[in-house]
Amino acid sequence: MFNYITSGESHGRFLSAIVEGVPSGIEMDLPFINHELARRQGGYGRGGRMKIEKDEVQITAGVLKGRTTGAPIGLLLENKDFKIEQMPEISRPRPGHADLVGHLKYGEGIRAVLERASARETTMRVAAGATAKLLLREFNIAAASHVLEIGGISADVRGISFDEIVKNAPQSEVYCVSASASEKMKAKIDEARKNGDTLGGLLEVRVKGCPPGLGSYVHYGRKLDALIAAAMLSIQAVKGVTFGIGADFAKLPGSKTHDEIGYSKDRGYYRLTNHLGGIEGGMTTGEEIVTQVIMKPISTLRTPLKSVDIKTKKVEEAAYERSDICTVPALSVICENVIMIEISKVFLEKFGGDSLREIQRNYQSYLKQLQES
Ligand SMILES: Cc1cc2nc3c(=O)[nH]c(=O)nc-3n(C[C@H](O)[C@H](O)[C@H](O)COP(=O)(O)O)c2cc1C
Repeated sequence: MFNYITSGESHGRFLSAIVEGVPSGIEMDLPFINHELARRQGGYGRGGRMKIEKDEVQITAGVLKGRTTGAPIGLLLENKDFKIEQMPEISRPRPGHADLVGHLKYGEGIRAVLERASARETTMRVAAGATAKLLLREFNIAAASHVLEIGGISADVRGISFDEIVKNAPQSEVYCVSASASEKMKAKIDEARKNGDTLGGLLEVRVKGCPPGLGSYVHYGRKLDALIAAAMLSIQAVKGVTFGIGADFAKLPGSKTHDEIGYSKDRGYYRLTNHLGGIEGGMTTGEEIVTQVIMKPISTLRTPLKSVDIKTKKVEEAAYERSDICTVPALSVICENVIMIEISKVFLEKFGGDSLREIQRNYQSYLKQLQES
């Protein structure tokens, strides 16, 4: 079973991940993993930290002659801005961050909390997710993402195709496929920066190439939409996840919601629409997976909100230290990689084997079963 664990602090010496359950025989394309990390570092609205770092991982275990051996894979990333011991203690917790409750719970001060709660940790989620991408690309399963809304400025991109997202999102500094909306989003970010404020937003992730039947309805812990939602919600500052037409399910009748079924000899069963976002009963239908993710605004404000000093217990302004203004574009890259981890889990659950070759055999035999169904 594909699984991973991360360790590391925002200003610690290293960030690391151990990725377990990757079969043997996968080409560990390091430039590809580092490219994903560079995409995570980008996006209009970042603070000064990303100018210091150039995120590149080293592979420390589980790979021989460029290919996975089946052993746990070690991934290591060195922080250029390594200065955790010199970082000042903070006594005025930021509303919206993990500061106050983390300190109440662990009792080692706010610095210890924010160093680990920080989304710097998502470098390792992206590195692990890129490993999942490498596994899934052997089966022509690919992910793409784009930003739909930042601070109330939204892009009308209904009907946009997967290939258009892949082509056009990287052209935009906010990873949005609409050039005009991108300019308005950037202006909104500039305005927030000027006011000492921050912004959240909405993004979409798509996955194409999944066969029908990944995930399961038989047990809540195996439903793919639930696995994806939990994984997304575990990412820093994510506050909501929907699938397909999302909030419109609340407005439309069933007749305009459910995806009618078609059949042709070439394609097998398919859907005339994809309102459900590629998942029914916790299983892939074979259509694209479509999911939207809501991000709350960054909680470190240059114009701070009220807080209480944990030493004096007096009402004060919350602490401020160098921070991002808007990271919805970066989050789109994180979600795109994190979703592939969840898909790898259900993929390996279904076609599992020790080597790529064994999984390919199992996969082909399932495709044959589908043709005969
Ligand atoms: C890519 C990314 C970058 C972030 N950068 C910052 C930041 O610079 N400053 C900040 O206060 N929060 C930042 N956050 C959000 C915090 O990490 C997050 O709000 C905090 O850990 C509390 O967790 P929660 O929002 O999930 O409750 C960032 C989040 C993401 C996804």
